[in-house]
Amino acid sequence: MKQLYSVAVVGATGVVGKELIETLVQRDFPVSNLKLLASERSAGNRVEFKSESIAIEKLTETSFKGVDIALFSAGGAISEKYVPYAVDSGAIVIDNTSHFRLDDDVPLVVPEVNAHAIKMHSGVIANPNCSTAQMVVPLKPIHDKAKLKRLVISTYQAVSGAGKEAILELENHTRLGLTGHDVNPDVFSYPISFNVIPQIDAFQENGYTKEEMKMVLETQKILESTIAITATTVRVPVFVGHSEAVNIETESVVTVNEVRTLLDHFSGVQVLDDPAKGIFPTPRELAGKDDVYVGRIRKDISNPNAIEMWIVADNLRKGAALNAIQIAEAVINL
Ligand code: A2P
Repeated sequence: MKQLYSVAVVGATGVVGKELIETLVQRDFPVSNLKLLASERSAGNRVEFKSESIAIEKLTETSFKGVDIALFSAGGAISEKYVPYAVDSGAIVIDNTSHFRLDDDVPLVVPEVNAHAIKMHSGVIANPNCSTAQMVVPLKPIHDKAKLKRLVISTYQAVSGAGKEAILELENHTRLGLTGHDVNPDVFSYPISFNVIPQIDAFQENGYTKEEMKMVLETQKILESTIAITATTVRVPVFVGHSEAVNIETESVVTVNEVRTLLDHFSGVQVLDDPAKGIFPTPRELAGKDDVYVGRIRKDISNPNAIEMWIVADNLRKGAALNAIQIAEAVINL
């Protein structure tokens, strides 16, 4: 008989929280008991899980008694305050926020890429930023073959990465815009409807945003390499699915055919690349899918050591909930 685990989801009413609950069901994670935690506002609301109806509870310092695995997705400040209580009660925490990601004693894991890092955890394992998680999957086999030297990244990121209020803002502002009304942005710094916004998260002293620096530092940590990386991260009016144009410079030359073969054989990646037939990945078509999709693979005409590619994945799945549950699966199989 397989062992069952008591699981808690912190931020259970959020966009990622809901996806975590769904992913536990889809992957038949061995759950004995599911605790759903959120703010006081949601306490008492009920959520369906398999054949059960579970009441949301208010998150407190004592919420984690008897919990084996705690999945946190309620923002960095909540993780900062409550993760220590979860760890003290003996739970293994998989944290979807940026709070612990760069700590030396916290593995930052994408299972297809660096599952080996999980073993060195001391109670907390971090789930990477969504745009980083999807990018490192196709980068890993290229890095192993030809050693990554430099990445130049531009992202086109969906609003769901910014939570449920952001989804509502795109929905409402699109409707208002179409009926000739002015809109005032609340979640975003500019109106997101009919627009693109070259700012995700706060600006840093070096002129980059926090999201851009996450891509730099988290990619280096996951791939265990000091690759030169520069990124511009952009919010676009898409509900689900992040897209990324990535220029990949390698130490040794790798051909387009070699890249295709490497990706074809790597777990979690699908190549969708047939320009003659108009085939390439787009977020609208791929929302809800588990894999990372790669297209537009071509030689950089300005650099013999570089390849261009277009990477698309569901930011709520591989970028968040699916990756977190894959980490949980690896943890219980350690
Ligand atoms: P709630 O719905 O009760 O506010 P999203 O990222 O989609 O905006 O979701 C954020 C998640 O974090 C929600 O589940 C939200 O719960 C939860 N959350 C926000 N503030 C707190 C808090 N103080 N304690 C517990 N959960 C919180």
